[in-house]
Amino acid sequence: MSTSQGGIFALGTASHAYLEFDARQGRTARELVAAVASLREPRTTMGGVNLVAGFRPELWRALFPDDIPPGVEGFNRALLGPNGYTMPATQHDAVLWLSGSAYDVVFDMAREAIADLGAFASVAEESSSWPYRHDRDLTGFIDGSENPDLIDAPGFAVIPEGSPGAGGTILLLQKWSHDATAWESLPVARQEQVIGRTKDESVELEDKAADSHVARTDQDRFGKIFRRNMPYGTVTDHGTMFVGFSAEQQRLSAMLESMAGLTDGVRDALTQYARPLTGAYYLVPSTESLRAGSGT
Ligand code: HEM
Repeated sequence: MSTSQGGIFALGTASHAYLEFDARQGRTARELVAAVASLREPRTTMGGVNLVAGFRPELWRALFPDDIPPGVEGFNRALLGPNGYTMPATQHDAVLWLSGSAYDVVFDMAREAIADLGAFASVAEESSSWPYRHDRDLTGFIDGSENPDLIDAPGFAVIPEGSPGAGGTILLLQKWSHDATAWESLPVARQEQVIGRTKDESVELEDKAADSHVARTDQDRFGKIFRRNMPYGTVTDHGTMFVGFSAEQQRLSAMLESMAGLTDGVRDALTQYARPLTGAYYLVPSTESLRAGSGT
């Protein structure tokens, strides 16, 4: 029996940090995995922090070839859509996602983790996140309405028992900068067409356009994923950390291709107002596999 990393499904945390690392020159994948696998969350119940760790798929496969679905790969090439549209590839070797009740505990734990990994890896990318008006992203829309609930989510997000990588999941981490000025200059009715849902109550539009965001990512077509998106940034420079988990990488990559207009030339209208700055896939192993990694 394989257990998924608990933080993936720990909802209700107000503060988040995402740290992406590159292995230091001369350090092996084995050493990096062992160092990450040795990190531990504080055990307190009140000031606790959830820690989710993932690895570049090729790095994990080199150590544990039977513990990852065949074909899973990093975000190694930029995704090119029609008319020069580009989603950049910024793959790194490892990721830590920390979440907790307040930023102080996340901050302390993140600093400790960076120090503990310091001999093996350096931070390549760092973002911190916070909730906006309970469950909205910085477009002002409710984010996560079509997420599976916590009873069903593991069935869609976690690699099933008996398959290579069981208990693990594929994470797509993508930082999207919002063009707040352009977005906020749109009337609400137009914003609703762009998303494909109403702004206040998040009701799906009957007559949503083919280029609306929910049409481009329709889970009835691509399969269900579990999203843990969060706002990030400062007052003048902000956007959405897209944090998506799936048992199959193909659902995530097909959604991205659809958003970019690769399949049928129709680009997601939301991409006129938000721009991906990063893009990386990580294999987030089961807790048992992670523990095994600490002894490698
Ligand atoms: C700026 C970046 C993004 C923002 C602000 C955003 C926001 C939203 C909002 C407001 C919804 C409607 C409510 C809901 O069901 O959650 C939604 C739906 C959805 N988004 Fe995004 N999203 C972003 C990027 C992405 C990306 C990169 C993907 C996939 C790789 C994605 C996948 C989905 C899916 C699967 C749905 C539900 C579609 C359905 O109705 O089946 N989103 N998003």
